Amino acid sequence: MSALDAFRLDGKVALVTGGSRGIGRAIADALRDAGAEVWVTSRTAEGAERAVRGTRLKGATCDVSDAAQVEALFERVGDVDVLVCAAGLSSAGRASEVSPGEMRRMHEIHVLGALACAQRAHASMKARGGGSILLVTSVWGLAGQPGTLPYGAAKAALAHSVKVLALEWARDGVRVNGLAPGFVETAMTAEVGEPVKEKLLSRVPLRRAAEPDEMAGPALLLCSPAGSYVTGHILVADGGERAR
Ligand SMILES: NC(=O)c1ccc[n+]([C@@H]2O[C@H](COP(=O)([O-])OP(=O)(O)OC[C@H]3O[C@@H](n4cnc5c(N)ncnc54)[C@H](OP(=O)(O)O)[C@@H]3O)[C@@H](O)[C@H]2O)c1
Repeated sequence: MSALDAFRLDGKVALVTGGSRGIGRAIADALRDAGAEVWVTSRTAEGAERAVRGTRLKGATCDVSDAAQVEALFERVGDVDVLVCAAGLSSAGRASEVSPGEMRRMHEIHVLGALACAQRAHASMKARGGGSILLVTSVWGLAGQPGTLPYGAAKAALAHSVKVLALEWARDGVRVNGLAPGFVETAMTAEVGEPVKEKLLSRVPLRRAAEPDEMAGPALLLCSPAGSYVTGHILVADGGERAR
């Protein structure tokens, strides 16, 4: 196989939670361009329908924090070879004021939601001789960032999960990796005010935010046979910030 052929996913089925827009959508498009049949999710039927209109993507609804909806999603999609867990949203607030409910909500979406999907995908991948799972964490789960405790703590737990799942599932041929983006221009970060954004980007050596498409290449590497000897790794795509 040539080095470029190793990025192909012909005949494979991929599921991207949170693939209706933003980073998940950019990754879904890349997996589809690499030859996979790709399912994307939204929490609403309208969101799923809008996301796949005029594309070769397939749409499904799922709120990943609801175990019954995750079960129904996998019933609908069937066996998968590639799972990308990109579903998520952020949460801001000072640690002194953070409620247990908000800590729980972030955990339910980012950690329990991704774990439920990963467990379901692992079972089907194991039965088929292997597969690859990519959990989208964040640089804010790798280092502290004031004002992000519920989100950062959940992403840190997700980053830890990458390591444990990779160790436990390697024997089944299932690779598990993480992608830790820095600041990416999406609906999620559109909520960040200009002064805060400017301050955050002033610390980025590349001096700009990323576009969602810039997450697609790193994701394809980890999801495809091009990354066949990579597991338990968290690829940081942050414009160089963590090189400091
Ligand atoms: N943007 C950044 O700078 C950045 C940096 C680091 C990490 N991330 C992570 O990257 C991932 C994607 O974020 P994004 O920036 O691309 O955000 P986005 O454009 O707002 O997209 C978020 C996606 O997640 C879905 N979603 C939200 N809550 C969900 C839930 N409970 N169950 C299922 N799906 C849910 C949304 O679906 P609907 O169609 O239902 O809205 C949408 O598809 C997130 O995990 C985020 O934490 C983002």
